[in-house]
Amino acid sequence: MRDLNEHTITAAVLDRFAGTPDPRLKAVMASLVQHLHNFVRDVEPTFEEWQGVIGYLTRTGQTCTDTRQEFILLSDVLGVSMLVDAINHRMPEGATETTVLGPFHVTDVPFLPLGADIGAGLPGERLFVEGSVSSADGQPLPGAVLEIWQSDDNGFYDVQRPELDGLSLRTRLRADGQGRFHFWTIMPTAYPIPDDGPVGDLLKATRRHPWRPAHLHFMISAAGHEQLVTHIFVAGGDYLDSDAVFGVKGSLIQEFARHGPGQAPDGTQADGPWRSLSYGFGLKSLRTPALAMQD
Ligand code: BEZ
Ligand code: FE
Repeated sequence: MRDLNEHTITAAVLDRFAGTPDPRLKAVMASLVQHLHNFVRDVEPTFEEWQGVIGYLTRTGQTCTDTRQEFILLSDVLGVSMLVDAINHRMPEGATETTVLGPFHVTDVPFLPLGADIGAGLPGERLFVEGSVSSADGQPLPGAVLEIWQSDDNGFYDVQRPELDGLSLRTRLRADGQGRFHFWTIMPTAYPIPDDGPVGDLLKATRRHPWRPAHLHFMISAAGHEQLVTHIFVAGGDYLDSDAVFGVKGSLIQEFARHGPGQAPDGTQADGPWRSLSYGFGLKSLRTPALAMQD
């Protein structure tokens, strides 16, 4: 363990971790050391560049607060969040695909009754959303809980607007006895992820834009099923092919139909134009065996 050089140091470091009692930690550390050393061999950073990396990661940590998680954002723009999601959600036929949670989810949001208007009084195109929650095999899931959140007409979430008193454009709903739900809101808009910190610096330096295509967030829970974290994206919207966090899946892009004034499916009368979305969510049963890994 003396006179180590660029050819022998990796084996020496691996050997130093060889006594790790937890087999998973041992395997993770071995892989990390191998990949990190190979990365350094590949890039051959100067001292100044390596100090730059340390400084960047330090600033990323320092940017984190109770309401902002810059490391998750970094993982998002590097595609790592979606890779972890893909590895952990190999879904059976009939189950809705998953995507990133994002930083704007709020826990313990109060329940509203089915049919509530979470966009009442806000500027934007009126939107009626209806759908169902069922098991991947098509069995309805009565009483499933849906958490829903979205951006406003300017592309901001309520938690990004400290001047707002309370919640806006988010709710929790309980599906009815047939697993069905409906609510009113406004159309979500495309928006940039927070880009005034180290992640934004990286995007700018690499000439990447920070935009996400317009979407509604859903987190759906039902007994005996994996919690579903997903979005529904607006078909025809901007950035569907260049989402800053790589979260778009074709199956999650849906038509939001256009309507003129008239009666909506819940019997209410719309005086102006409105849009509608109808979607059936499928949840993976906790008893579904994991899909075999593809080779
Ligand atoms: C979001 O969709 O809310 C989101 C996801 C990842 C990063 C930033 C925002
Ligand atoms: Fe979002």
